[in-house]
Amino acid sequence: MKKADLIVGIQWGDEGKGKIVDLLAQNYDAVARYQGGHNAGHTIWVDGTKYALHLIPSGVLNPDAINIIGNGVVVSPAALIKEMKQFDRLEGRLFVSESAHMILGFHEAIDQAKERLRGKKAIGTTGRGIGPAYSEKIARSGFRLGELRDIDALSARILEYFEQNGAIYKALEIEAPEATALKVELQGYANALLPFLANTTKMVWELLSHDKNVLLEGAQGTMLDIDHGTYPYVTSSSTISAGACIGLGISPKDIGKVTGIVKAYCTRVGNGPFPTEDFGHQGDRLREQGQEFGTTTGRPRRCGWFDAVATKFASRINGCDALSIMKLDVLDGFEEIKICVGYKVDGAVIDYMPLDLEKAEPVYRSFPGWEKTEGVRQWDDLPETAKTYLLEIERLTQTKIGMVSTSPDRNDTIFR
Ligand code: GDP
Ligand code: IMO
Ligand code: MG
Repeated sequence: MKKADLIVGIQWGDEGKGKIVDLLAQNYDAVARYQGGHNAGHTIWVDGTKYALHLIPSGVLNPDAINIIGNGVVVSPAALIKEMKQFDRLEGRLFVSESAHMILGFHEAIDQAKERLRGKKAIGTTGRGIGPAYSEKIARSGFRLGELRDIDALSARILEYFEQNGAIYKALEIEAPEATALKVELQGYANALLPFLANTTKMVWELLSHDKNVLLEGAQGTMLDIDHGTYPYVTSSSTISAGACIGLGISPKDIGKVTGIVKAYCTRVGNGPFPTEDFGHQGDRLREQGQEFGTTTGRPRRCGWFDAVATKFASRINGCDALSIMKLDVLDGFEEIKICVGYKVDGAVIDYMPLDLEKAEPVYRSFPGWEKTEGVRQWDDLPETAKTYLLEIERLTQTKIGMVSTSPDRNDTIFR
C-alpha cells in the first residue's frame, strides 16, 4: 500500500505551492485538493505561459496525471465550470467529490455583506463565499454536489432554506432566488458537472492500494488554519496536513512525505496580525521584486521578513519532513536580510506562538545579502551568504531544506 505525499503552505498562503505541485506532478499519477475553494490562486509558469488555477489541482498541466477535488473542498459550480474551459480533454482526468459542498451565489453575497458590516474589523476575505459555505456545512444545512442529480429536490431544498432563513437574508438585502431561474441555473451546473462527479474517497483508496503515486495539494497556509491560525483572521477550513484526512477520507497512516512550502521572506493578503511586516521601503521592495499581488483578487500583498518562530510552529504541526524555500531570488541585491528569531510579548522573549499574535514584537537577527541567485539550479552554485542564510533557516526551524526555488520557472529549482 502506497502512502500519499503532501504539499502544504507554511505561512499565510501564496508561498508558491502551485509551482512545486506542478513540478512534482510530473512524477505522480494523481493530484488531489482537500480543502479551500476558489479563494486559492495557484500560479504556474510553463514555457513562458502563465496558468492561474483556483479549484482544479495543479497537476492538470501533466497530461498523464488525474486530478481530484475532494469532499473537503467547497466548490462553486460556476467558478469550476469557468476554470475547466481553459483545458480540453478533462473527462477521465478530473474527478470531483459528489459529497463536496457547493458555493452558490447567495453564499458569495453573504460573505461580502458580512465583510461590509464588519467595517474596520473586516477579515479581508476574498469575497468568494468560502466562510458562508463552510458555515452552512457545519450547521448541517449545506448543499452537496451530488444533489445536482435531482434538480427538483435540490431547488425545493434551497427555496425552503430561504424560507427558514429569510429574515437574515432580508436584513442583509439579499434576495431569495426566483424558482424558475434557480432551476435553470442548477440544470446548467448539472449538465456541465455530473460527468465529473465521483466517490473520490474510494478512488484515492484504490489508487493507493494499487501502488499509484498520489500527491495531496494544500491551499492557503498554516497561519490561515481555522483552528491553529491567527483566528479570527483566518480562512474557514483546516489548511494543515491533518485536513487532508478529513478532506479526502484517508487515514493519517495514508500520508507519507510532507513538504512545507515557504517563501524566503513572508507575505500576507487580507487583515490580521503579521509580526514581521515591513511598512517601509524594504517591504515595498519585496512587493516589487516578488511581484506580490494576489492571484485571485489582485490585491497588493503585505510583505516582510522570514518568521522562524511561525515556521517552526508550522513545521511541527504539519509534520514536515522537509521545507521547500521559494522565491530566494526576490532577496537578490538586498544588503541586509532579517530573520525573526523570537517574539517579545509583555517584556519577555518567547519562541512559540502566543494566543494574541497582535501583541508580538519581532526580535530580529541580521544576515548579509548577496548579489544573485536567480536561475541557480545547484546548491553549490549559490553564493556563500545565501547558503548561510538557508542553513540558519534550517537550524532555527529544525527542518531540513529539500528544495530551493530561484524563479517562477519549473526548471529553476534546486533539489538538495
Ligand atoms: P500559491 O498560492 O502558494 O500557489 O502561490 P501563488 O501562485 O499565489 O504565488 C506565488 C507566486 O510566486 C506566483 O506568481 C509564482 O509564479 C511565483 N513564484 C514561485 N516560485 C518563485 C520563485 O522561486 N521566484 C520567483 N521570483 N517567483 C516565484
Ligand atoms: P492560496 O491557496 C493567501 C485569505 C484572505 C483572507 C482570509 C479569509 O493561493 O495560498 P476567505 O476568502 O478564505 O474567507 O478569506 O484568507 N486567503 C488567502 N491568502 N492565499 C490564499 O490561497 C488565500 N485564500 C484565502 O485574503 O485574509
Ligand atoms: Mg496563491
